[in-house]
Amino acid sequence: MAIILITGASSGIGYQTAELLAQNGHKVYGAARRMDKLEKLKSVGVEPIYLDITNEESCRKLVDTIIDNEGQIDILINNAGYGSYGAIEDVPLEEAKRQFEVNLFGLAALTKLVLPHMRHQKAGRIINISSMGGRFTTYFGAWYHATKYALEAFSDALRMEVKPFGIDVSLIEPGGIKTNWGLIAADHLAESAKGGTYEEAALKTATSMRKQYSGNMMSDPKIISKTISKAVSSKRMRARYLIGFGAKPLVFLHTILPTRIFDWLIMRAS
Ligand SMILES: NC(=O)c1ccc[n+]([C@@H]2O[C@H](COP(=O)([O-])OP(=O)(O)OC[C@H]3O[C@@H](n4cnc5c(N)ncnc54)[C@H](OP(=O)(O)O)[C@@H]3O)[C@@H](O)[C@H]2O)c1
Repeated sequence: MAIILITGASSGIGYQTAELLAQNGHKVYGAARRMDKLEKLKSVGVEPIYLDITNEESCRKLVDTIIDNEGQIDILINNAGYGSYGAIEDVPLEEAKRQFEVNLFGLAALTKLVLPHMRHQKAGRIINISSMGGRFTTYFGAWYHATKYALEAFSDALRMEVKPFGIDVSLIEPGGIKTNWGLIAADHLAESAKGGTYEEAALKTATSMRKQYSGNMMSDPKIISKTISKAVSSKRMRARYLIGFGAKPLVFLHTILPTRIFDWLIMRAS
């Protein structure tokens, strides 16, 4: 039985993962802002806990509470995130910075708070939810992909740094997963393009994203929760788990195709 903290547990991948890990017998703290959504996880034994990942005090309070209750944190699953889609010309830099605050700096703040405890324990696992979008870029996704590319580098550097302390770091790189993520990203895209130069193309892409994420094409979030559960229980985690709709073929195509052909393919599919 491990003591696990997972962020973004109020919805989608985080929700399913918190539920599965608790069912597997772990003590799971599920963190997010929407406490009403977390309440439902109580019935399967998940401990709901408030977190606004952009607020360092909130991160500190969360870690202190778990340490006070349990004396340790064995596994940190950094999952909270959203997609701030929009043309670079349209998205205010303030929003771009918010995207980085949630997807990277908040995650880094939480990781920094957990690391001393893991070092003290001489053991620990950090599982960062990146994306296939940490390996290639989609239309109008500049800031989102910038955060996920950054998370890939951050995680690779962290893995080397903490290895001597018995701590391991893994990246989960989901493909298209049927959660609210796509609808939230499409809303950001449509909103940011209103009345601007990119409106027509952006609205077309937003409509296509909404269609894709409300249809049956995308993978079930359970695929990702099972992969995370596998990483949690494995003797040795893989450095990367690339899994879910489109992930393996698209990363492969990105590797073998000339960049401009890959751009063309992505724009056509958007
Ligand atoms: N769905 C996909 O196709 C896909 C593909 C690749 C990667 N991913 C990644 O998977 C992760 C989970 O996404 P999902 O698909 O499960 O989306 P989701 O259903 O929208 O869930 C996102 C979670 O992030 C939390 N969150 C957002 N802002 C936060 C903040 N400021 N503080 C604390 N928590 C915050 C949300 O909780 P509250 O709003 O309640 O705070 C929510 O629980 C994300 O990192 C996403 O980038 C998703």
